[in-house]
Amino acid sequence: KRVAILISGGGSNMVALAESMVGDHPARPVLVLSNDPGAGGLEKARARGIPTAAVDHRPFGKDRAAFEAALQAELAKAAPDILCLAGFMRILTPGFVAHWEGRMLNIHPSLLPKYRGLNTHARAIEAGDAQAGCSVHEVTAELDGGPVLGQARVPILPGDTAETLAARVLEMEHRLYPAVLRRYAADDKTPVVLDGANS
Ligand code: GRF
Repeated sequence: KRVAILISGGGSNMVALAESMVGDHPARPVLVLSNDPGAGGLEKARARGIPTAAVDHRPFGKDRAAFEAALQAELAKAAPDILCLAGFMRILTPGFVAHWEGRMLNIHPSLLPKYRGLNTHARAIEAGDAQAGCSVHEVTAELDGGPVLGQARVPILPGDTAETLAARVLEMEHRLYPAVLRRYAADDKTPVVLDGANS
């Protein structure tokens, strides 16, 4: 299976996914695509010999359809079977999602369905939750709303800040996303559940 990974920033999840697709893994990375030409993840992809492309969303202003048409043109060249959104920070229109539905994953830094949207770690701490974590889900038109294919839990510790919790969750993201992709690429939707309590 051919996998395209969409990023907006440092791409640490992209690196974890790319490094997992080796040996007898049923998938290989064919493109790393960013909405920011300056995304640090693009250099990390190039360093690993993965083709890259960038479509700067800013010149398109509010014209999401035109921006996405440019994304689709880059994707058509790479002809991926699966899209992995990995720290991709643009909301996709229902039209784009419908085109890729059933073939597109996203990782979200909360235990969905809790804390859809942004600032997930601060919200979990503020709520006094004992646990936090991350979820990999199929992307549907509902923001952070599609079927969950995997979750990883971590404890929220006394004195945690959004930053210390984010770092703990990010480590689990790098384990969860590759585990889910390996199953997904083999058409296996058995949920992945990881517990980072003792890590
Ligand atoms: C992180 O906040 C992560 O929780 C979320 O996207 C952000 C950047 O991740 N998935 P990455 O390092 O660009 O993969």
